[in-house]
Amino acid sequence: MTGESLLVAEHVTVEFGGNRALSEVDLDARAGEVTGLIGPNGAGKTTLFNVITGLLSPTAGRIRFDGRDVSRIDTHKRARLGIARTFQRLELFTDLTVRDNLRVAGEIRNTWSGFGKGLGGRVRRINVAHETERVLDLIGLGALADADVSTIPTGTARVVELGRALMIRPRVLLLDEPASGQSDDETRAFTHLLRRLVRDDGLSILLVEHDMTLVMDVCDRIHVLDFGEVIAVGTPDDVRRDPRVHDAYLGTSTS
Ligand SMILES: Nc1ncnc2c1ncn2[C@@H]1O[C@H](COP(=O)(O)OP(=O)(O)OP(=O)(O)O)[C@@H](O)[C@H]1O
Ligand SMILES: [Mg+2]
Repeated sequence: MTGESLLVAEHVTVEFGGNRALSEVDLDARAGEVTGLIGPNGAGKTTLFNVITGLLSPTAGRIRFDGRDVSRIDTHKRARLGIARTFQRLELFTDLTVRDNLRVAGEIRNTWSGFGKGLGGRVRRINVAHETERVLDLIGLGALADADVSTIPTGTARVVELGRALMIRPRVLLLDEPASGQSDDETRAFTHLLRRLVRDDGLSILLVEHDMTLVMDVCDRIHVLDFGEVIAVGTPDDVRRDPRVHDAYLGTSTS
């Protein structure tokens, strides 16, 4: 239901060698909402994404998804439960077309249908060809479907990555700087797309982004990280007015 906690990080601490990248971070992304995660370079945003998706084991703390402790299950199983992400550094198959990048994700999703019980029931197979065309249409890239990803601009590739994440039919989507490399027009279109995904498809989103226009436009609530600690949580207006946030980030932000 909208407004209920869907994805929760509890007291997450990550140490790399002697360095603390995250220090007892609590985060709460609610169903049917866009949750922002902002903060200066090196604050720990991508590190938290890596913990949430299971790419990185935290030194301490837990991740809960839909009430279940998923801290000990691997990345693929978390994806199967409905946690999808895009990467700060694009990770598309550059020698494949836009359409085939989506298709591959759909084929991977269908392999999950064979998994056993214990993870919230069976995943129903999708018709990959049909779903690919639906997602291409949704993200507005039908005309570029046959283009090799190596030939399209970065801003468009960001949308392809979003499309690929959508192919697993996620419940929550983690986006790591999706507007990076996009023109202002592309970011405006992206803003509308995110709104539509939340409103029409019931998706929940956790958004890491430095483009403050996008963040303030789409987020229902925002968490602010600084040096691995959450220094503020609130609505865009709360966060904008918070002097600590201003000092740590917004006052120095160029966008
Ligand atoms: N694999 C790693 N090994 C060692 N240190 C790491 C590793 N990954 C990240 N760090 C360090 O952890 C801290 C947080 O990095 P992280 O990439 O999470 O920041 P970020 O908030 O995503 O920054 P940006 O906005 O620049 O993407 C930084 O000091 C970084 O150097
Ligand atoms: Mg990052």
